[in-house]
Amino acid sequence: MRINKYIASAGVCSRRKADELIAQGKVKVNGAVLTEPGYDVTEDDLVMVNGHYIEGSDKLVYYILNKPAGYVTTTADEFGRPTVLDLLTDIKTRVFPVGRLDYETTGLLILTNDGDLANHITHPSKKVFKTYIAEIDGEISLHEADRLAKGVTLDDGYLTKPAQVKILKQGNHSVVEIRISEGKNRQVRRMFKAIGYTVVALQRVSIGNIQLGHLHEGHYRKLSKEEIDYLKNC
Ligand code: URA
Repeated sequence: MRINKYIASAGVCSRRKADELIAQGKVKVNGAVLTEPGYDVTEDDLVMVNGHYIEGSDKLVYYILNKPAGYVTTTADEFGRPTVLDLLTDIKTRVFPVGRLDYETTGLLILTNDGDLANHITHPSKKVFKTYIAEIDGEISLHEADRLAKGVTLDDGYLTKPAQVKILKQGNHSVVEIRISEGKNRQVRRMFKAIGYTVVALQRVSIGNIQLGHLHEGHYRKLSKEEIDYLKNC
């Protein structure tokens, strides 16, 4: 397998990024810096990227997980907190999460070893809508929901793009469905903060056409061929 594909299949990065790493001399094969970008990896080769040995896979795999609260979506945590990879007890291929969810956020997370697909979905030029259900600490008005939909200014001065907002329950604790096409850090929580509310629970229920459905918290399943094709072409 060509070296850039091998690196992407190990879940390190996209093929394009792998080409950059090779050009920067950050890839070694059998201890020597690789100088040949078209190198074909053989079964006996030991490949190292940025000082870490990697294992490519000739099989691309795709899963969705219903992430529980209390897990980080990075592959390792400096504070020793559990990571979502700890939940994937019977997956032998090394996968990584596509995008991120906060430690406390629950819901739909895609995991794959397909670096190209991950890059495709998360690229800022892509307008894939993600739907969240947010429970907030107070009674939201239609006017405030409309403000969220039109765009609010976050704590760093960023003006959010138009969103779709539906109030599902109004009361001391309101429940709001919010669909956004962006993925700024803690965006939904910060959008509510901008209009004076704290999010007390947040769940992602869909990414584009991919739905969390009835998958139980902490459980995962393979994506169907139709779902994978959809993500590749969205
Ligand atoms: N927005 C947030 O505030 N948190 C998430 O985890 C995802 C989106």
